[in-house]
Amino acid sequence: MKLAIGNDHSAVEMKKEIKKYLEDKGIEVIDVGTNSTESFNYPISGYKVGKMVANGEVDGGVLICGTGVGISLAANKVKGVRACVCSEPYSARMSKQHNNSNIIAFGARVIGVETAKMIVDEWLNAKYEGGRHQVRVDMLTEIEQTQGLKVVDEQGQ
Ligand code: RB5
Repeated sequence: MKLAIGNDHSAVEMKKEIKKYLEDKGIEVIDVGTNSTESFNYPISGYKVGKMVANGEVDGGVLICGTGVGISLAANKVKGVRACVCSEPYSARMSKQHNNSNIIAFGARVIGVETAKMIVDEWLNAKYEGGRHQVRVDMLTEIEQTQGLKVVDEQGQ
């Protein structure tokens, strides 16, 4: 398995710990984040990881900024990305099972590194369930691709 990881200045230490944690499991990790605590604009890392995931260069991505919010918003602007910010493991697992998330994000100023490891584990171990969830994930893709949603727009709502 190959993952991309990205971060901003607020998450350098957590990024290093999570990267090592993943590598110790035998996962190849491509680090596109900053290793400096100088101010760094999170959209750069979010975009880079988003592109790598969308292009299929990696199997998934991990993004960390202060809250996980900005960096996931950046990744979600790339077509094909479903980046989910999670502060606890349950949402991380469900984001894969129900939403087929391909990037997990969290905040270095929000959670501790042990919770971050649990989040990553739940996300990695979870499997997308498909079935009824595919209809909904397809709707997400439809909005992304067309800036519309037929089931709503055809009703003139
Ligand atoms: C940086 O100060 C902070 O805004 C950033 O890490 C992140 O939390 C943005 O969403």
